[in-house]
Amino acid sequence: MTRHFLNLRDAGGHALAAILSDALDRKAARASWPKGRIDTDAPLNGRVLAMIFEKNSTRTRVSFDMAMRQLGGSAIIMESGSTQLGRGESIADTARVLSRMVDAIMIRTSDHAKIEELAHYASVPVINGLTDESHPCQIMADLLTLVERDLALPGLEMAWLGDGNNVLNSLIEAAGLLKFNIRVGVPAGYEPDARFVDKARAEGARITFTQDALEAVAGAQVVVTDTWVSMGQAGGDVVIKAMEPFQVNESVMAKAAAGAVFMHCLPAHRGEEVTNAVIDSAQSVVWDEAENRIHAQKSVLRWAFGQL
Ligand code: CP
Ligand code: NVA
Repeated sequence: MTRHFLNLRDAGGHALAAILSDALDRKAARASWPKGRIDTDAPLNGRVLAMIFEKNSTRTRVSFDMAMRQLGGSAIIMESGSTQLGRGESIADTARVLSRMVDAIMIRTSDHAKIEELAHYASVPVINGLTDESHPCQIMADLLTLVERDLALPGLEMAWLGDGNNVLNSLIEAAGLLKFNIRVGVPAGYEPDARFVDKARAEGARITFTQDALEAVAGAQVVVTDTWVSMGQAGGDVVIKAMEPFQVNESVMAKAAAGAVFMHCLPAHRGEEVTNAVIDSAQSVVWDEAENRIHAQKSVLRWAFGQL
């Protein structure tokens, strides 16, 4: 059975733990190496990943390319606008053709139904590089960033401030699978996908909502935010006005637990969802999060290829 990684649930809690453990080991094994050197065991030697981008990206593009290089394989970047997919060739036919040519496909797109269709027709693994619904690879990097700080996931108290977006949906999914808790400070009308919330709660995660930012972060060990307006969303003054009370600034971080860490998937809109004083502080782990996209995705790829 082909292993797709469209959402974290496709792997499940047990595999997610194995992916994180593998990522920790592999990261340690190549500490201080040149970034392009191939891992000693070259586990994806000869394998090729095609990456389709229907939205902008810096981290996802570079981290998957570097992940494949370090694993001994290679990647092809396809900008949707210059492909036949961008001219209307069907997802199904694109899936069939790419499955004959490459060993795995990563796609960043808007509509989650599109990635499901791609996976349906592909006979090689399909990996979600962000949809409007979710961003599972980002959350794997975030979880790796936490476990390498010895922040044990079961029972961890996290707070999210701002928009209830794709990144939050995946974080909530992780909370259910790995048993941690999230207090979400979000303006009315911007809540995350109820299906993710209901499922995580049924699995035992405590997911609570408040419209008071200070209440959301009180005592939290981890404070997370993201852009107030995601790619492809309508923005404007109304959204900014609604989000303003949820900015992560020094007063907000002061209410979190002592030594709490600040996380952001990036790109950041400094002065909107986070102030310079917070993102540039010693509590901020955003650069580790970015680097960990490589390490986490290497192990996601190994899982997709049946190696974990
Ligand atoms: N965090 C993230 O996915 O960044 P990019 O949009 O740069 O890929
Ligand atoms: N929520 C953001 C994440 C960017 C990496 C977006 O979808 O634009």
